[in-house]
Amino acid sequence: MRAMSVISAIVLLLGANAFVANADDTSGANPAIELTIDATKPGPAINPFIYGQFIEHLGRCIYGGIWAEMVEDRKFYFPVTDKYNPYGDSKITIPVVSASPWEVMGPAGSVVMVKKNAFVGEHSPQIAPGSGIRQNDLAVVAGKEYGGYVWLRAAKGKASVRVSVILEDGKDSKQVANTIIDDKEYIRFPFKFVAARPTENARLQIDISDAPCLVGAVSLMPSDNVRGFRADTLALLKQLHGTIYRWPGGNFVSGYNWRDGIGPRDKRPPRRNPAWTGVEHNDVGIDEFIDLCHEIDAEPEIAVNTGFGDDYSAAQEVEYLNGSADTIGGGWRVKNGHAKPYGVKYWCVGNEMWGDFQLGHMRLDQYTLKHNRVAAAMRKVDPSLVLVGSGDLGTKGRLGDGPDAHDVSWSQGMLERCGDRMNMISEHFYRGQLPWTKDGKMPIEEHVGQLREEIRKKAAAHRKLQAKVGRTPEKFIPIAMDEWNYWHRDYVYGELGCDYNLADALGVAAGLHEYFRNSDIIGMANYAQTVNVIGCIKTTKTAAFLDTTALPLLLYRREFGSVPLAVMGNSEERKLDLAAAKMADGSAITIGVVNPEAKPQALRLAVNGAKVGTNAKVWRITAENAEAINTPEKQAVAITDARDVKVDGAVSVPAYSVNVFRVAVEK
Ligand code: AHR
Repeated sequence: MRAMSVISAIVLLLGANAFVANADDTSGANPAIELTIDATKPGPAINPFIYGQFIEHLGRCIYGGIWAEMVEDRKFYFPVTDKYNPYGDSKITIPVVSASPWEVMGPAGSVVMVKKNAFVGEHSPQIAPGSGIRQNDLAVVAGKEYGGYVWLRAAKGKASVRVSVILEDGKDSKQVANTIIDDKEYIRFPFKFVAARPTENARLQIDISDAPCLVGAVSLMPSDNVRGFRADTLALLKQLHGTIYRWPGGNFVSGYNWRDGIGPRDKRPPRRNPAWTGVEHNDVGIDEFIDLCHEIDAEPEIAVNTGFGDDYSAAQEVEYLNGSADTIGGGWRVKNGHAKPYGVKYWCVGNEMWGDFQLGHMRLDQYTLKHNRVAAAMRKVDPSLVLVGSGDLGTKGRLGDGPDAHDVSWSQGMLERCGDRMNMISEHFYRGQLPWTKDGKMPIEEHVGQLREEIRKKAAAHRKLQAKVGRTPEKFIPIAMDEWNYWHRDYVYGELGCDYNLADALGVAAGLHEYFRNSDIIGMANYAQTVNVIGCIKTTKTAAFLDTTALPLLLYRREFGSVPLAVMGNSEERKLDLAAAKMADGSAITIGVVNPEAKPQALRLAVNGAKVGTNAKVWRITAENAEAINTPEKQAVAITDARDVKVDGAVSVPAYSVNVFRVAVEK
């Protein structure tokens, strides 16, 4: 599928249907590049799962991004103390909570953490009468309604409780509600308010009088949340239209107990995030993930824990998702209100188990045994599962002992020893500019080619490796590139929340082109990640927007064909990246053009083997310069509306641009 030389192109142009698009602005462009799309030999269909996404319990991806909860540490993982220092010395723009975000309002010692009658987790705060606790730094939008609740129980006798929202510095205090609570059991006390004006410094305060009172858990969400998901983020996820979502990690999964994330939400224990900073609130677990996938029309893909986890737990997780009510796991699902099995088909057996940073990392030969045990146990519950094994071409591992011992790549070991117990093999990669700061410069075209280069190398290496381990092309185990992206620069949107620019968007489009060119061996690709954390959607506390890298994902998913066609010509000399594909029903041919150059370029296209019309539609992603970024205030990089192009001249593509053309095929 690689571009051929100019000489071949000239030969192929004979008998081709010349399709030339007229100029919009070719000023400053070089002479038109001659290209031929060969519609006579389509490549293997592009798997729709190359348009997948990855979300992980890390930074502000789930909490602070997708989930609508506004209160930090709502279940009191951290003890509430007289020393209020929630962010420690974190330098991240949106800092991670590393100590209790609850401030004591009262004399020293008026809040103690008690284990007896704790509502959830290890302990609950008990507040002395005449004192209170408050959470600062809540952001609200004027005129918007918010709803919340507090679980309360008097420690002795009857306590009076006042819940207030204070918009700024004690001024404009809004008392939300009062109640009287006794000591028999925890009571859920709901409240609502409409923000009179916008602020990032609203406070939620709980004051106690008459008797000491326990606070079990607190929640506050905008009332427009959709079963707990942020309405603004959901709307963008729908636009992004990822076909499959991989969850819950990532490194996170290797320390995750999925049972912590099921059952009544307020009663699920908060834990320290096992792989990253901050707290895992366990508000989003399996049932919420499935709900999210249904809401955004995506296929769920669940990673099981093969780090600190075991075969028993993985099999029981499959039962929870797919088993009947008479299995242990299936019974729990039914009890939690989901009578019908979810039927989740796609599963990752572990994450990056080749890395010595991974919780539960072990020797390759031991891990292959573990993979096989886990996979067998999962398939015993549901033989129809599609399993992705954890590979890595770049890491060596040891197979065998004594004189037989030899080192092979982790992927080779997995293919040799686990080939029958997996349907796809995972490879991950991240590229970026070093140093990972705004000042790390690299020629734009080189930067744009980084993702493409990785994909090309991995696909070629797998073809070679799979042949070496005795697999014919028909029996290749497809690659699931289930983490791929740029990862660089400063973190602006919380942990790993780097922002992206137009050059990154061009690189993502070129990466997609490379997936199309390797459709014989790429079975899945999950852009990593989705919200805030190296994410293509960014959020503030009150708004969400598409970052630059979301745009090619969205555009190709929406408009591009699914049957790849070879493109031949001299585009490489001009650094252009071109890909073509016809629609599954054969009605149109689409052409993607990435121009990483500072100059516009002119193209002259011909189609061999199909008669195309004389009008094309074009969508573009571009901006004034390659370093243009999107911010909450201004989205400098966007997709243009579809524009009609008359095909009677050379078609131009602007400097630093992604262009998708679509032309109808005539019958
Ligand atoms: O996506 C961030 C991290 O990168 C993932 O947790 C891990 O799988 C990879 O190393």
